[in-house]
Amino acid sequence: MGTGGHRSWWKHGVIYQIYPRSFQDANGDGVGDLAGIRERLDHLQWLGVDGLWISPCFPSPMADFGYDVADYCDIDPLFGDLSEMDRLLEEAHARDLRVLLDLVPNHSSDQHPWFAESRGDRNHPRRDWYVWRDPAADGGPPNNWLSIFGGPAWEWDEATGQYYLHSFLKEQPDLDWRNPELVAAMHDVVRFWFDRGVDGFRIDVIHRIAKDPELRSNPVLDPSRGYGGQRHIHDENHPDVHERLRGLRRIADAYPERVLVGEVYLMDPAEVATYYGKGDELHQAFNFSLMQTPFDAARMRDEIERFHALVPPEGWPNQVLSSHDARRHASRYDHPLLGEARARLLALLLLTVRGTPFLYYGEELGLRNVEIPEDRLRDPLAWTLHPAASRDGERTPMPWSAEPGAGFSPAEPWLPLGPDASTRNVAVQREDPASLLHWYRTLLAFRRATPALEGGAQQSLPAPAEVYVYERRLGTERVIVALNFADEGRELDLGAGAVLAGLRSDPSGALPTRLSELRLAPCEGVVLRVGS
Ligand code: NOJ
Repeated sequence: MGTGGHRSWWKHGVIYQIYPRSFQDANGDGVGDLAGIRERLDHLQWLGVDGLWISPCFPSPMADFGYDVADYCDIDPLFGDLSEMDRLLEEAHARDLRVLLDLVPNHSSDQHPWFAESRGDRNHPRRDWYVWRDPAADGGPPNNWLSIFGGPAWEWDEATGQYYLHSFLKEQPDLDWRNPELVAAMHDVVRFWFDRGVDGFRIDVIHRIAKDPELRSNPVLDPSRGYGGQRHIHDENHPDVHERLRGLRRIADAYPERVLVGEVYLMDPAEVATYYGKGDELHQAFNFSLMQTPFDAARMRDEIERFHALVPPEGWPNQVLSSHDARRHASRYDHPLLGEARARLLALLLLTVRGTPFLYYGEELGLRNVEIPEDRLRDPLAWTLHPAASRDGERTPMPWSAEPGAGFSPAEPWLPLGPDASTRNVAVQREDPASLLHWYRTLLAFRRATPALEGGAQQSLPAPAEVYVYERRLGTERVIVALNFADEGRELDLGAGAVLAGLRSDPSGALPTRLSELRLAPCEGVVLRVGS
């Protein structure tokens, strides 16, 4: 695999997240699989991304759709088998596409043999691979910790007379990373996949793998708000996480070009940035701040500048707008008239801002969240929290064509397709050079041909209200990006300088020749390579 001169794939490339149940069903059971992903590698190559991250595809009872792993070193039969994974790796690598898997270190499934042993006998050597405690004096849970997915974080086990900890569902018992044997077993898991050729991991909730060793209760601010009403000072983000993370990084560093990208779901970006360590922890921590930011130029600029300033020099930022846990951004920022223009503008932002962009499958089509009827909801959060907390709407099948089943599956898909699947799909948009799909592809190609966009420094420039302007620079190459978030047009004067090349997000707009007289349509943006 070539890295192409200035390029380091994980810094300068673009990663595409695949939710494997929903990308492509090759065996006709209504659920996506690895063979399906392999069949669709053409799409990823045509689009021009550098790698894919596959959400968990390991054996699992699917209580949390794969984030409850029952065997870390195998593939769930629903998705294929190890030889199918090998084939996928081989074919992806042959196309210069890297593959990240999803490591879920904080918890396993309650059906994992480790948990069966741990639960079966208080004296089993693997008892302490999980977090077991005696009840409090009143017989209740050992402390006040709550599950992120609702209710107490402790489940009573009648047979052995203790509680076990689960930060998520009770079917997802927390592993104890204070136990050296468990740590060694997880290290073996990481080596197992690196040895098979996997290029890295997205790591699930890495900030929770160490908790307060004394299991002290969290301070309660507002008991009526449940999980959100506590200050989570003892059940997450414990300083001891970092030593454990350095252990994982040492393994990654023993292999060439392997990458760890971590989900650090903390609200304070300054805390998130600590997970870069001194270049000895995560290669990238997900920057979720844009997902919480309204469609507003100044707010977007502030969030981007803040995260850039926090990432240590050895680190590299990451940028993301959508995922399997959040409402799709085309829905989040939808607008009755300017929805498509906004999606085009945000693609321009995501693919030109400093940091590795992570795309979520279907965002290149402008896929919206799908309204799921209550009787078809599958996400457990619909029951443990509330139907509105369900993440099913952002996990619906990829629409490939106008055929029945949208080319995703000949069978009834596990989640319904969107109502617009016969028009908003890959085949239709590939025929239309003005489509969002082509816009993503054009932007990806422009980015790849412009080292300043992939690796250059970034600086904000003065701009009129509701416009975000920044410059990317590398060596003598200078690129200006101007993004109009307003519902009306804006005139800009970006000074002297000739436009050498560029793109504008309005498909009907012509490229300006001078920077001093730039007119942007409502929700329009431009990226311009400029000469001095
Ligand atoms: C974060 C994952 O992204 C989410 O989908 C999952 O439910 C939780 N972690 C628990 O693993």
